[in-house]
Amino acid sequence: MNTVVLGMQWGDEGKGKAIDYLAGSFDVVTRFQGGHNAGHTVYYQGQKVVLHVLPSGIFYPDCLAVIANGVVVQPLQLVEEIQNARSLGLSMQNLILGENAPLILPFHQQLDVVFEDSRYQRIGTTRRGIGPAYEDVVGRRALFVKDLLQEKAFRSKIAILADYYRRLFKAHGHPVDDIDQAIDQYLQAGIFLKPYIANAAHLLRRAYVEKKNILFEGAQGTLLDINLGTYPFVTSSNTTIAGVFSGTGLSPKAVDKVIGISKAYTTRVGEGPFPTELKDECGSMLRERGNEYGSTTGRPRRVGWLDLVALKYAVQVNGVDSLFITKLDVLDESAEIQVATSYESADGRGDDFFSHADALSRVRPVYQVLPGWRKNLGAIRRLGDLPRQVRSYLSFIENFTGVGVSHVSLGGEREQTIEIDR
Ligand code: IMP
Repeated sequence: MNTVVLGMQWGDEGKGKAIDYLAGSFDVVTRFQGGHNAGHTVYYQGQKVVLHVLPSGIFYPDCLAVIANGVVVQPLQLVEEIQNARSLGLSMQNLILGENAPLILPFHQQLDVVFEDSRYQRIGTTRRGIGPAYEDVVGRRALFVKDLLQEKAFRSKIAILADYYRRLFKAHGHPVDDIDQAIDQYLQAGIFLKPYIANAAHLLRRAYVEKKNILFEGAQGTLLDINLGTYPFVTSSNTTIAGVFSGTGLSPKAVDKVIGISKAYTTRVGEGPFPTELKDECGSMLRERGNEYGSTTGRPRRVGWLDLVALKYAVQVNGVDSLFITKLDVLDESAEIQVATSYESADGRGDDFFSHADALSRVRPVYQVLPGWRKNLGAIRRLGDLPRQVRSYLSFIENFTGVGVSHVSLGGEREQTIEIDR
C-alpha cells in the first residue's frame, strides 16, 4: 500500500521515528520536498542518527531510498551525510539521487543569512539557503544535480548566476562571498555523487507500475507549507500532500493512504503565531521532558498544548486517513491536559483555522481541560494496558478530527510504539 507520511503541525512531530517504524515494510522510500532544513531523528543499532536529506529507507538494504526531484540538494552536505551513513556500516548502494533536483548554491545560503539579519524578513529560518534555492526554481534560473556532471557547462551557468547575485548583494550593500573554491568543491562532490544520480521520476514511475510499495516521507509540517501554512512564517516548499505529486512526478492515483503525524502537544521553531504557546513553567517542563531542541539547529523549540483546530485543518487539507500520535509519554506528569477546540477573535468564536499569520495572531484559543494520567507510559506495549485517561485523550482527538489514531508512540525506541488495529 503506497503510503504518505506527513507532519500535521510546524514540523518536528517525530516523523523520523514514525517513518523508521513504517519503512521496513516498503520497497521504496522517497523524500519529495524540502532539503537539509529537515532533521529526522532515528535510532539505528542503539545509536541516535539524524537524517537531513537521506530518506529513512537507507537503513534497509533491500529498500530503494530515493531523493526525488522536489528536494533541494546541497551537494557538500549530502556527501558528508552519505559518508556518515557509511561509517555506520551502511553500504548506501540503495540510494538514488534525482538528477533534476535543484541545487542549493553558496550564494543561496548567504542570501538566507543576509535576509534573516535584515529588516526585510525575519522568519527564523534554518539559514541553510532553502528559500533562496526554491526562489531560483520559480525564477527559472536554477541549477540542477545533473549540472554537476558537466564541468564546463556548470562553470559557465554558475558564473552567470553568481553575477546575478553579485548585483543583488551589491544593492543590499553586501559583498558576495568568493565562490571559486566552492565551485571546485561542488564539482568534486559531483564526482562522488555520480554513482547515485539517476532519473528519479522514471524510477518512481516504474516502481509504481510494477506495484512496488512506496513510502513518501514528508519533511517539515503542514503549517509550514508555502501555500497552506502560516504565511509568511513558512518554509518554501509544499509540505502537504500537494508536494508529493510535484516532487515525485507521480499522480494522486499512486497514493493509497495518508498518515498524519502529530505530537500529543505542539511545538514550533522560528517566528510566527502559535495560539496555544505556553510561556510558563508548564511549557518549560514539556520542553525539558520532550527534549524540545532543534535536531538541525539546536534551537530551543516553542512549546504549547495540542491545537485541535489546527490539527483538524491539517487532517482535512491532506486527506489524512489515520493519525500517528507521538510523544504521548511527555505528558506523563501533567495533572491535567488542555486542548484547544476553538478560537475566539473579534469576529466571535469558531473552529476554522486561519492560515495567514496576521489573522492567526489575533485569535485566542478556547480550551477543553482533560484529566492527566500521572503514570509512566514508556514500558506499555498494548493499547489495552494504557490508562483509561490516555484512551479518552486519544478518543477526544479522534472525535474532533474525524479520523482514527492508528499508532501511538511512547518513547524514542522503535518498540515504544503501539499499533492500533481497527
Ligand atoms: P527554512 O525552511 O530554513 O526556510 O525555514 C523556514 C521556517 O521553517 C522556519 O520557521 C524554520 O524554523 C522552519 N523549519 C524548517 N525546517 C524545519 C524542520 O524540519 N522542523 C521544524 N521547523 C522547520
